Amino acid sequence: MPISITEIKDMKRRTEKIPMLTAYDYVTAKMVDEAGVPLILVGDSLGMVMLGYESTIPVTIEDMIHHTKAVVRGAKRALVVGDMPFMTYHLSVSDALYNATRFIQAGGAQAVKLEGGEVVADTVRRLVDCGIPVMGHIGLTPQSVHQLGGFKVRGKGVVEAQKLLDDARILEEAGAFAVVLECTPAPLSRLITAKLTIPTIGIGAGPDCDGQVQVISDILGLYTDFVPKHAKQYARLAAEIRQAVADYISEVKSLSFPTEAQSYAMDEGLIEQLKTES
Ligand code: KIV
Repeated sequence: MPISITEIKDMKRRTEKIPMLTAYDYVTAKMVDEAGVPLILVGDSLGMVMLGYESTIPVTIEDMIHHTKAVVRGAKRALVVGDMPFMTYHLSVSDALYNATRFIQAGGAQAVKLEGGEVVADTVRRLVDCGIPVMGHIGLTPQSVHQLGGFKVRGKGVVEAQKLLDDARILEEAGAFAVVLECTPAPLSRLITAKLTIPTIGIGAGPDCDGQVQVISDILGLYTDFVPKHAKQYARLAAEIRQAVADYISEVKSLSFPTEAQSYAMDEGLIEQLKTES
C-alpha cells in the first residue's frame, strides 16, 4: 500500500519535513519513488515542462489521466496526487466529483489537488465526504494567471495576506489533508503553517512550511525556458543530454558507432549462400 494521508499528516505532528516532487512519466516516478519521496504530484505544470505550452491552461483531463497512469505504474510507495486541470472543478460540484473520480478510478491516483481557497471549499468538502483526499493550493495559482496578471508573488499586502490565511483555514475546515502555498512571502507562510493543523507544502514560500514541492524538471535542470527564482538546480541534465546527443551525431557520422560489439553476428556462410542464390 502507498503512504496514506494520515502518515503525511503525522509527519507534521512529528515536525518531520515533507519532500514532494512532481513527476509526469513512469521512469521518473520510479526514480523519485525509489529515492524515498513520500508525495508525488502529477502537476498540470506538465503542460509547460512536458508539452511546451506557455501556461497550464491548455492542459486537458485526458492529458492528466494519461500521465497519472504512467506515474502510478512507477510509484510503489509514494502517495500520488493528480492535479485537476483548468475548469474541471468549477462548473459544478458534480462535474468536479466526476472528474476527480476519473483521477482516482482510471488514473490510479490516491488524491487530487485543486487550486483556490473559499471559492472551491464546497467542492473540497463534497470530494472529501465521498472519500477522495484533497490537497489545496493557494497563493500563486497558475490556472488564474490571466486574472492575476502574471506569475507573481501573492500576499505581500495585508488584505491579500489576510485572505490567504482565511482561505487556508477554510480549506482545512473543508477537509483538505494538506495545502500548497505557492509564491507567498516567507513570514506569511510561517504564520499560515503555525495556524493550520494540516501540513503546508511550499514552493517559493520560504523554509518554514511543513514540506516543500518542486517541479522535477526544474531541480534536474531539464527545463531551461524559464528557471524560477525559487528553484534550485541539483543537476544540469539539459546540458548533459545536449552533449550526449552531439557525441552520438558525431560518432554516427565518423562511423565509430556502432562497433562490432554493438552488432548481432550471423553465419557468414549463409550470406555467401544468399549472394550466390540471388
Ligand atoms: O503543477 C504543478 O507542478 C504544481 C506545483 C507547482 C505545486 O501545481
